[in-house]
Amino acid sequence: MLNFNQRIIAPSLLAADWSKLADECEHAIDSGADWLHLDVMDGHFVNNISFGPNFVKHVHQIVPNAFLDTHLMIERPDKYIHQFIKSGSSNITIHVEPDYEIQETISEIKKSGITAGIAINPETSIETVRPYLDYVDILLIMTVTPGFGGQEFMIDETMPKVKEAKEIRERNNLSFHIQVDGGICSRTAKISASYGANIMVAGTGTFKASNMKSAIDEIRNA
Ligand code: DX5
Ligand code: ZN
Repeated sequence: MLNFNQRIIAPSLLAADWSKLADECEHAIDSGADWLHLDVMDGHFVNNISFGPNFVKHVHQIVPNAFLDTHLMIERPDKYIHQFIKSGSSNITIHVEPDYEIQETISEIKKSGITAGIAINPETSIETVRPYLDYVDILLIMTVTPGFGGQEFMIDETMPKVKEAKEIRERNNLSFHIQVDGGICSRTAKISASYGANIMVAGTGTFKASNMKSAIDEIRNA
């Protein structure tokens, strides 16, 4: 994985125009996106349904060299990770809140040779996810309640957790990157980076920007 100061920008395809998915994926890469973020929602863990492994496979066929950051907002990721691995995910992030074998699922993801992330919702404490931080490549700290794009950045509930996670990483010499997701634009990316995040997911802030390249540059340089 990269160094913690290198900023990674991951536009979320949830905000893309799916009627021209190939153009949108290529446009994001041409505009400087480092990763593409794929928000998988099952209608149980979150109150929305988005897409499944076939959508990820289609994106992988469109942009085979792109790093696909698959964010599983689903009740039972343990049942589906092999399909998302096969479909071309480069990273798979699972949530700590649902009830399944988390540790086992993390090792299954890593055994397949891709990276593994663990995600926490705004109301979930760092303590809840602490046991897994020794094993994951990414800690995703949701800065909105998951389920939808275009929501307000939740600074008070989440920035202290970014700070706490960075302190744990430094104290224990761990190697997970801190990713934020939800309401990210240049202003909130600057705030998030100041607390210790270096991977920025942005849906509205990139795909809905008038100029995607400048939007990505502004988030990168914030
Ligand atoms: C929310 C998703 C986010 C969302 C980000 O459940 O995990 O990735 O798509 O969208 P914006 O950047 O519009 O908040
Ligand atoms: Zn996401």
